[in-house]
Amino acid sequence: MPKPQGPALSDATRGRLLFGGDYNPEQWPEEVWHEDVRLMKDAGVNSVTLGVFSWSRLEPEPGAREFGWLDRLMDLMHDSGIGVVLATPTSSPPPWMGRLHPDTLPVTEDGRTEWWGGRQHFSHSSATYRRYAAAITEDLAARYGGHPGLTMWHINNEYCTFDHGDEAAASFRRWLRERYGTLDALNEAWGTAFWSQGYDTWDGILPARQPHYMRNPSQVLDFRRFTSDMLLECFVAERDIVRRHTPHIPVTSNFMPLWFGQDAWRWAGEEDVVSVDLYPDPRDPLGAQDGALVQDMTRSQARGPWMLMEQAAGPVNWRGVNHPKPRGLNRLWSLQAVARGADAVCYFQWRQSRQGAEKFHSGMVSHAGEQGRTYQEVKQLGADLARIAPEVSGRHSTADVAVLHDWHAWWAGAQDGRLSHEVEHADVLRTWHRALWQAHLTTDFAHPEHDLTAYRLVVVPQLYLLTDAAIDNLLAYVRGGGTLVCGFLTGVADQDDRVREGGMDARLRELFGIRTLHEWWPLDPGEGVACEGFRGTLWSEELEADGTADETVAYKGGELDGLPAVLRKGGAWYVSTLPEPDALRDLLARIATGAGVRPVLDGLPEQIEAVRRGELLFVLNHGREPVTVEVPGTHRDLLTGADVTDRVTLGRYDAAILRP
Ligand code: GLA
Repeated sequence: MPKPQGPALSDATRGRLLFGGDYNPEQWPEEVWHEDVRLMKDAGVNSVTLGVFSWSRLEPEPGAREFGWLDRLMDLMHDSGIGVVLATPTSSPPPWMGRLHPDTLPVTEDGRTEWWGGRQHFSHSSATYRRYAAAITEDLAARYGGHPGLTMWHINNEYCTFDHGDEAAASFRRWLRERYGTLDALNEAWGTAFWSQGYDTWDGILPARQPHYMRNPSQVLDFRRFTSDMLLECFVAERDIVRRHTPHIPVTSNFMPLWFGQDAWRWAGEEDVVSVDLYPDPRDPLGAQDGALVQDMTRSQARGPWMLMEQAAGPVNWRGVNHPKPRGLNRLWSLQAVARGADAVCYFQWRQSRQGAEKFHSGMVSHAGEQGRTYQEVKQLGADLARIAPEVSGRHSTADVAVLHDWHAWWAGAQDGRLSHEVEHADVLRTWHRALWQAHLTTDFAHPEHDLTAYRLVVVPQLYLLTDAAIDNLLAYVRGGGTLVCGFLTGVADQDDRVREGGMDARLRELFGIRTLHEWWPLDPGEGVACEGFRGTLWSEELEADGTADETVAYKGGELDGLPAVLRKGGAWYVSTLPEPDALRDLLARIATGAGVRPVLDGLPEQIEAVRRGELLFVLNHGREPVTVEVPGTHRDLLTGADVTDRVTLGRYDAAILRP
């Protein structure tokens, strides 16, 4: 699927891999800027993001403008051959704004104001906030749109706020009127006959504030949709301003990884460049898989090369315990992102702060400075990226497997009154992606209404909510010869979160060979359910087959003894429990083989990840022990320049990038 015409990441990379990060020079005296430039050039930095949190410096009082310092920086960067991704500063309004205009401050679900003193204290619905945001964006675009150093626009930062205040209530009502037209339609969609919630006026509707007991789930679902849409409106408003000045400069806004609050499919369609911030825990044995998931998802949203906007060169400072990256891990995880389609490897932030809330968060230049291990490793990575860039930049990766994900299904499933609070959509998604990752199968992500015909295998870990269009799409995909695997709690609800008759859509039941779904049987933490050949966890279902399935795997023992745990009918599989990780991996590997999907390489050791990007083969060792990997044929390793025949030996956290 080609991206629509318009400026793209390639307009900023121009055949290179971008390397750099958030640069916050306003935290430092000007003499440090020159030292920064020296170190940046030494490390091969070719891109910095300026101005993300500069609003109070740019507009120290309402309507004032102080651009002199930024003028000097833009020139300094450009003269040094470093491109600038210029941010609009609108994620952290200056203190005067909250003081003079309390209506710009967001309100939590229990009525608490979120004050200035941190960041992201803006209400997406505040007309005052939007007016100030538009004005500073307009002036930035007018001043720097023609600057030769400008390579990209970065709008706001990690849009992630919620607002339940009065102005948000008014815009929620407007949004609902557009969606439903009449109160009758809204009452019907929300099922307000339950608990006496019928609305007789739009003014009576609230933005999912804290009630006494469980909330109306359809109201909450719409509130989440609304929040994503309001933040998107803020993005689009600023995007359109900069576009008017610079139609040739690509625009992005950085996503948080697998973030609950934004319908990222919808958002990605509004961006020229899709970018993400990614911070796997260096201590997490599955950190690399976490990274792979987000990278696969971002690549799929970008439909091509994407931008790693932020990662950490060392520790973050927002976990309970924050671990540094052991030697080599920063390089390895950066190359993993490139393997999975990144054309930019950037960090938060260039120089570690000495003050402020993130002074213990790493930077590319740590408190230890130039001689510190962190900077020395950054420098090595910069050299590696420069070496491989000509052969890597702009190349696409393709996958035969698509994993389906939809924010609306996630939002709808996350309701107060669900049967098991052990079932978390994101965890289920991670578990299934991990099984595919461990089977060395490269996956794209797709929305359930996307065209799936290019994929041999489509995997649905869990889509509690499916629209009619999505169900039609899945049925057509299987009818067309595709192989589909669906996990439990899929196809339960329609777009309003109304449970479909029979607890699972009838067309899906027919697809899998299920006559009746009698009851759901959630499992307690740690509890398992025996099935033929494996153990299920988390969930089980009392299913009655209709006799048309080609293959079934039964529950063994307990209440569900003999009933189907897994069914296959033609190319459609249904898995009504969560098999333990190895069993899920083996099941998906078997299904993939049947669908004609092969792993990237055969016989790979567990700690090795192999990914193809174009004709290049990336081989990554996630272990601390050296490993020899069979790579039939003769290749050039782009990292070392050496030729490799039939096997390559990788040391701890090492990588090879092989060109045939
Ligand atoms: C996010 C933000 C950055 C910084 C980092 C810290 O990604 O965008 O400003 O706070 O987190 O990890």
